[in-house]
Amino acid sequence: MEVVICSDERQVGEIAADRVIDWLFGLPTPVLGLATGSSPIALYEELARRAVLGDIDFSHAIGFALDEYVGIDPEHELSYKQTIRRTVVEPLRMNPARVHVPDGSAEDLAAAAAEYDRAIKDAGGVDVQVLGIGSNGHIGFNEPTSSFASRTRVKTLTQRTRDDNARFFAEGEQVPTHCVTQGLGTIMEAKHLVMVVTGEHKADAVEAMVEGPVSAMCPASILQFHPSALVVLDEAAASKLHYADYFRHIAASKPDVAEQGR
Ligand code: F6R
Repeated sequence: MEVVICSDERQVGEIAADRVIDWLFGLPTPVLGLATGSSPIALYEELARRAVLGDIDFSHAIGFALDEYVGIDPEHELSYKQTIRRTVVEPLRMNPARVHVPDGSAEDLAAAAAEYDRAIKDAGGVDVQVLGIGSNGHIGFNEPTSSFASRTRVKTLTQRTRDDNARFFAEGEQVPTHCVTQGLGTIMEAKHLVMVVTGEHKADAVEAMVEGPVSAMCPASILQFHPSALVVLDEAAASKLHYADYFRHIAASKPDVAEQGR
């Protein structure tokens, strides 16, 4: 796992965007895995800026979101379908017809989830998967105790995740109890993973993911098994890492951080 510690959120976005562009370079039909939430906003803003500058063109890219709530109207502004449209599809000038979000309102959720995994395979697999991490160590909505072999499926959200996400909902509006999420097995098939994390409230989860044992109690710790996983952190998110100085040393002592720390 490659860990890069940045001075602030803006630099987190820049470093992550550099690498995403690097990884996608020359691909005629790049396939992007997309996370929602606060963490990747700086990355998406930077990618949007680079798209305007002409450094990269997302018009032929295909997108697959990580997850969607169950029991929320896909047209609701807080559905992940709409969130991805606002924060990714429009700013990055992607073709909306090529961007997929799990169907949380399908009559047969299991069949729709299996179809989603098939669609990812048919597209040739995800080239770069963008990830955030939950304060309980989840990725996608793979909550603690999720199987490392899991595929896209329905999951029950923990109370902690529902509390964390309550900030997006209006007072009196309930955070959904269930979701459809790509599984850990699905996520691990992406060719490259880039995780972006900011804030002290994520420091424990980051420490468990990077330095803890690989355990279903911290689903993100599965990244330790991925051959190309980059984790970009701000100082606050990195504040509990025992190896922080080592990661800083790696980044400072070689000119091309892309080749290090894996
Ligand atoms: C969202 C997702 C989640 C979030 C995580 C962190 O698509 O997959 O794993 O990345 O809950 O959320 P934020 O970034 O809002 O703190």
